Amino acid sequence: MDDKNKLAIDTYNLIASEYDNEFGTDYSDAPYIDKFLESLNGKEILDIGCGLGNLTNYMNEHGFNVIGIDLSDEMLKIAKSKYKHITFKKMDMREINIDKQFDGISLLYSLFHLTKMEVEIVLPKYYNLLKENGKMLVILQDGDGEKVVKAPLNKNLSMFVNYYNLEEITNILKKHNFNIIYSTYKKGTEGSLSNKKIVILCEKL
Ligand SMILES: C[S@@+](CC[C@H](N)C(=O)[O-])C[C@H]1O[C@@H](n2cnc3c(N)ncnc32)[C@H](O)[C@@H]1O
Repeated sequence: MDDKNKLAIDTYNLIASEYDNEFGTDYSDAPYIDKFLESLNGKEILDIGCGLGNLTNYMNEHGFNVIGIDLSDEMLKIAKSKYKHITFKKMDMREINIDKQFDGISLLYSLFHLTKMEVEIVLPKYYNLLKENGKMLVILQDGDGEKVVKAPLNKNLSMFVNYYNLEEITNILKKHNFNIIYSTYKKGTEGSLSNKKIVILCEKL
């Protein structure tokens, strides 16, 4: 079967150190993460598609027990070397195999690497990974359609991106029994995959 996601993982493996230079100390999402952390009823968080782990570490520094999962060996290698005290696991976000439930799930710029069909399949799984009234923070690129685009940090490489607009992703989350607590837009950076990001905090109904 054609695995569009593999293109993203192959690319992240090749651009991990450039990604580190560009985003390794980017904490511009801290205000959204702070709101997410404040909303949680407990301390257990699963960071899905954690990449270099800087935001995983941010949540850990704020007193939460965070597990980071990612499928890119090279992104994980950097995460593990920088944040030795945090548990990072190599795992496909489409096949999460963790036998516990979490107070919160963070999906920071990772959900858009799955196809629209895959997103419909993973959301019920994420629902089950959350405890009662568990919260999920989703940040993704605003746009429309499923596309193969040039990787922002290396124009010789490409990656698959599944764009959603706010109404579309909100309706999908609602369909999968997530209540939207709030949503907003964040301005994108020059040369990134979209000049606008969507931020959604939602709750398991
Ligand atoms: C744009 S980066 C975001 C990293 C981090 N969450 C952040 O905000 O800095 C997307 C991450 O999603 C990961 N990813 C993509 N597809 C994945 C999959 N199927 N399973 C696990 N991780 C995946 C990539 O390897 C990459 O590290």
